[in-house]
Amino acid sequence: MKKFNRTTVTSALPYANGPVHIGHLAGVYIPADIYVRYLRMKGEDVIFIGGSDEHGVPITIKAKNEGVTPQEVVDKYHNIIKKSFEEFGITFDVYSRTSNKIHHETASEFFQTLFNKGEFVVKTSAQLYDEVEKQFLADRYVTGTCPHCNNDKAYGDQCEKCGTSLNATDLINPRSALSGNVPIMKETKHWYLPLDKYEDWLRKWILEEHKEWKPNVYGQCKSWIDQGLQARAVTRDLDWGVKVPVEDAEGKVLYVWFDAPIGYISATKEWAENLNAANKAQHIDKTVDWETYWKKKDTRLIHFIGKDNIVFHCIIFPAMLHAEGSYILPDSVPANEFLNLEGDKISTSRNWAVWLHEYLIDFKDKQDVLRYVLTANAPETKDNDFTWKDFQTKNNSELVAILGNFVNRVMVLTQKYYDGRVPERRNELPIENSFRASLHTFRDKIEEDLDNFKFRDALSTMISLARYGNKYLAETEPWKIFKEQPERVKTILNIGLQICANIAILMEPFLPFTSEKLKNMLNLKNKKWSDACIIFDLLEAGHQLNKPELLFELIEDKIIEDQIERLNSTKEQNKMTETTITPAKPDITYEDFAKLDIRTGTILAAERVPKTDKLLKLTVDTGIDKRTVVSGIAANYDTDKIIGQKVTILVNLQPKMLRGIQSQGMILMAENSQGELCFVHQEKDFENGALVK
Ligand code: 2FM
Ligand code: ZN
Repeated sequence: MKKFNRTTVTSALPYANGPVHIGHLAGVYIPADIYVRYLRMKGEDVIFIGGSDEHGVPITIKAKNEGVTPQEVVDKYHNIIKKSFEEFGITFDVYSRTSNKIHHETASEFFQTLFNKGEFVVKTSAQLYDEVEKQFLADRYVTGTCPHCNNDKAYGDQCEKCGTSLNATDLINPRSALSGNVPIMKETKHWYLPLDKYEDWLRKWILEEHKEWKPNVYGQCKSWIDQGLQARAVTRDLDWGVKVPVEDAEGKVLYVWFDAPIGYISATKEWAENLNAANKAQHIDKTVDWETYWKKKDTRLIHFIGKDNIVFHCIIFPAMLHAEGSYILPDSVPANEFLNLEGDKISTSRNWAVWLHEYLIDFKDKQDVLRYVLTANAPETKDNDFTWKDFQTKNNSELVAILGNFVNRVMVLTQKYYDGRVPERRNELPIENSFRASLHTFRDKIEEDLDNFKFRDALSTMISLARYGNKYLAETEPWKIFKEQPERVKTILNIGLQICANIAILMEPFLPFTSEKLKNMLNLKNKKWSDACIIFDLLEAGHQLNKPELLFELIEDKIIEDQIERLNSTKEQNKMTETTITPAKPDITYEDFAKLDIRTGTILAAERVPKTDKLLKLTVDTGIDKRTVVSGIAANYDTDKIIGQKVTILVNLQPKMLRGIQSQGMILMAENSQGELCFVHQEKDFENGALVK
């Protein structure tokens, strides 16, 4: 195995167009944080890079919809996201952002280097263009029908229903997301990264040299490569982003997926600059060099991402780094699948999410409960589901009943019997000996799993140590034998406390807040990862403990029901909006509209059409004449209630025979999502026959 001396860990830069939710945390940031904390505890040289992805079309669309600038959008969400990460104990060494100057310079230089090396292919092609907005329509600026699955809400870069990556020109019936207009085709020039040129190299590097990558990651890469790679445009006609730093590129910026991963590099530069400045200010004679973490062969680069980012981190970014030539390549990309919420895909636009900043309002100080549930349920090998019921069960039956209960029993008994001093261990019975002998297997197993990015298994082993402790207490029952066998009880509680201390160390990467609390209770200081499960006596006899506190508390049904209720009401609201808003129809010209002769009129008489549920035969005064109209409104209006009703009527609709009655024209009605009909109102009482135009 290759020997590495340091590790650069990156976590996907979230788009700064909305807050972060449990899906982000479960898929990317918790596993990355566990991994980094673990390496740090082992004393390894590691940096943890994060930041906000502040370019791209969704941000400009949001800005336009809200009537603010893109910078205002990203300022707002960058701060919300950064705060959420801090609150959940995600310990980035730097949390940067791609609208920073250092990033613009870094991304610009990177492009320039590839340009100078002649790595790009320049192509002029016809692209979709919105004539009203005077703008080319790339990526999310276009919606239309997916050519693969017929979803009529697909975007110009991807269909979210079938997951296919698209080009805007692939969409059937494309429409501008800015104006709703049908775009025209217009020629424009762009710089392309010729992925086809790197195909053989990528095939060898991934498919032969990285067979150890997670099956979901390896499989996706293989499928991309086997389908054949094509050149990808890395510039866009937009005014928000990193300007294309070459001649003849007016009004063009780098494609967001070109600049975002370079954001990891710019964030590392920022980290090094800040650290060097801080060291200098404190007269510490130590400097760090960002290049060590990106260019030295003994540095290991690891990208934590979600599955929708695999192609960018395993194919496109490595191709960019390879083309540039001076950078290391990722050693591993432990991408996770998706986390669903109560059976449905998490969606920002449909508000189908548990937002981190909202969670902490309802579950104050319960960061570790969420960290625990999301790790125990992490979508490591397949999509997984978060449910509030499962959240409650994991809290009540695992954190409270196993971990909290074990620690609490040991602490409370020690307080009660020995005033909180660690009792001496005397006689040792076979059970203790066998446990001591197997203790190291817990840490070994956790390490092996963490080294292989199996965070669920590692967490489960940590909990099994507490489970073991509970079993030990249940078998030895110190509370029953205190009077008869005081020496034996000392030994039992000493062992119980040593298990607690081992747990306090081993839980730190997973549950850092609880680990801190437990270490304080145990008065346990300066212990390293390597002390766990090796030094049995982490706590000396006579060592004074602090007062016991509960590590976790039960979550009542009512609290969970409220959360479920909240989601149900979101679902209801979504149903209403999804059903009410019928997709827009294709544009018509004014001439088309002018063909309609629509007038004000009054209903003079009404009777039901026999043997039908819905039809009424109406006599209507149209101002031009008095005529018969058959109208499907019987379910909503009784005949006697509508005599004298003012209506809006289309008078030049071709006459039609309906149930043997000739209908001349159509009464205009509005229909809501429940299929209820109502008359289209006139605000003033105009005479019959007034033209609607
Ligand atoms: O999918 C996303 O949310 C992207 N903003 C991730 C970018 S990761 C990196 F390349 F910066
Ligand atoms: Zn599709």
